[in-house]
Amino acid sequence: MDDIISLCKRRGIIFQGSDIYGGLAGTWDWGPLGVVLKRNVMQTWWRYFVERRTNMYGVDAAIIMNPKVWVASGHAATFADPMVEDMVNHRRYRADHLLKDADIEADDGMSDAELTKLIADNGIKSPDGNPLGAVKRFNMMFRTTVGATESDDAVAYLRPETAQGIFTNYKNVVDTVYPAVPFGIAQQGKAFRNEISPRDFIFRSREFEQMEIEYFVHPDKWEEAFEHWHDEVHNFLEKEIGLPADMIHDYEVPEKDRAHYSDRTIDVEFDYPIGREELMGIAYRTDFDLRNIERATGKSMEYRPKDGSEPFVPHVIEPSFGVERLIMAILTACYQTDEVGGSQRKVLKLPKSLAPIQVTVSPLLKNKSELVGKAREIYDSLISAMPGKVSWDDSGNIGKRYRKADEIGVPHCVVVDFDTLTDNAVTVRDRDTTQQERIAIDKLAKYLAK
Ligand code: GAP
Repeated sequence: MDDIISLCKRRGIIFQGSDIYGGLAGTWDWGPLGVVLKRNVMQTWWRYFVERRTNMYGVDAAIIMNPKVWVASGHAATFADPMVEDMVNHRRYRADHLLKDADIEADDGMSDAELTKLIADNGIKSPDGNPLGAVKRFNMMFRTTVGATESDDAVAYLRPETAQGIFTNYKNVVDTVYPAVPFGIAQQGKAFRNEISPRDFIFRSREFEQMEIEYFVHPDKWEEAFEHWHDEVHNFLEKEIGLPADMIHDYEVPEKDRAHYSDRTIDVEFDYPIGREELMGIAYRTDFDLRNIERATGKSMEYRPKDGSEPFVPHVIEPSFGVERLIMAILTACYQTDEVGGSQRKVLKLPKSLAPIQVTVSPLLKNKSELVGKAREIYDSLISAMPGKVSWDDSGNIGKRYRKADEIGVPHCVVVDFDTLTDNAVTVRDRDTTQQERIAIDKLAKYLAK
């Protein structure tokens, strides 16, 4: 984990949020390489789950929604973590985390009284060694106020899940594109949770990005839809993203631990450096959300089939991904150490399609103007052929350049040497095999694109 955090910081992938001011816990900033990696991952998801399908529609809803949304959805009442306070310095901690840290089995599905008893029975103290108070629930939604007044009427929340932006647009989508059930609505975007103990790098943050689908089905068809999305999720993680299948595990969440809206949940877990933890979840949300909207607004959420058969309120299967947890899984799986030419190298074996930089171009020697000139020509032409994917590097010696490129997962390094001046070809070095090939300059763009 420390290696991954250090790599991310050193190479401009992920920085601590507000770092220069001492940071802000649970917030992270994406650097020049990270922003491209994140975009590549999100685009891969969008292509796989939305663009390749004929019954999937995208939305991009507002982050601040009418507060009635969170009352109807149950988040205002139940979206809370068990919290315990240090009685001396008043710092607050997740009660279940403190217990787990002391190797005592606990989870946030336990009642406040149960957790309080476990803390007392086991003599758990705060990390500063002070006594702890009783466990209380703490709502995780971030509050803000809308408009010029600060009255209770003006209170609004930053969305804790993107899903509600989909449910509130279900009727808009049905009334504008007339989809046939089953169909899905997808959304990517920021979600905010005031986590009591943000931790483990980007794994548990206060501001993060979700990629969610609400898939609307006939109530009789939810089981087959659940299986379908379960298969699709595994296919995406293993084939599309290339995560090793033996690091991915399903956890059938028992009823007592499921979210308030779910009648079945499978958490897809991953073997992170911090242990096996949830990467994403697939939930059967029944008609819970659409019925809540009906009750709160008085508007019917019934779907009228085009064949004239009985109208119904659709049930929902929800595959929900967190971008940060997916990227942490990718970094975990791809950051490897191997041996090249008798010395150890660190290499990020990213799938080529996800690599932020696809190719570096460099002259063998930076003080030979004829090599630099030729390399610049090639660099310029590749930039127009593959915008945003090419980088120039003439620092240090060639061995060091390869190591730098390996560490950030650049699949190919192009080097212009003295032979280039006569044979119009360059050396292309492959990150994974470290093999070098001689490629004619006029075929280079095509070779790299392939
Ligand atoms: N709409 C359903 C929903 O939000 P969730 O299990 O609370 O379900 C879905 O969240 C996904 O969002 C998780 O599987 C995880 O990938 C990501 N996620 C949740 N909380 C997070 C946090 N504090 N930091 C980073 N990612 C988080």
